[in-house]
Amino acid sequence: MRALLLALALAAPAWAAEPEEPSVLPAGPGQEETFYACTACHSTAIIRRSAFDRARWDGLMDWMTEVQGMPKLEGEERRVIVDYLAQHFGPRANPARGRNPFLP
Ligand code: HEC
Repeated sequence: MRALLLALALAAPAWAAEPEEPSVLPAGPGQEETFYACTACHSTAIIRRSAFDRARWDGLMDWMTEVQGMPKLEGEERRVIVDYLAQHFGPRANPARGRNPFLP
């Protein structure tokens, strides 16, 4: 019985949210900047399932600031993050990503 209790105590609960690390995002310049700027509010899943071109990512940064209260991204940091997003989560990186599977 004691062994069973110990096993239960040591087993990670299946419902615990997995903490994310920057390495969940593809490696490259901007990986860490993007991770820390974006995971203050939500996980990277919402980013990883997206496929936007640079202009749309850029516009999304303003939306995130104006509507969601993200600290304004400007200058070099903004360029690095938007370049990173466009490179790794652009429409051509994965044509299936971001597409509605219920539409032709
Ligand atoms: C201040 C909080 C906050 C920060 C910081 C933040 N977001 Fe968001 N983001 C949100 C909220 C809130 C939503 C809406 C979530 C929902 O609809 O469930 C959202 C939605 C999104 C979406 C989905 C938009 C769509 O139209 O499909 C993407 C993509 C996204 N965020 C990317 C990012 C990226 C990239 C960063 C970092 C540069 C970032 N977010 C930083 C709050 C934030």
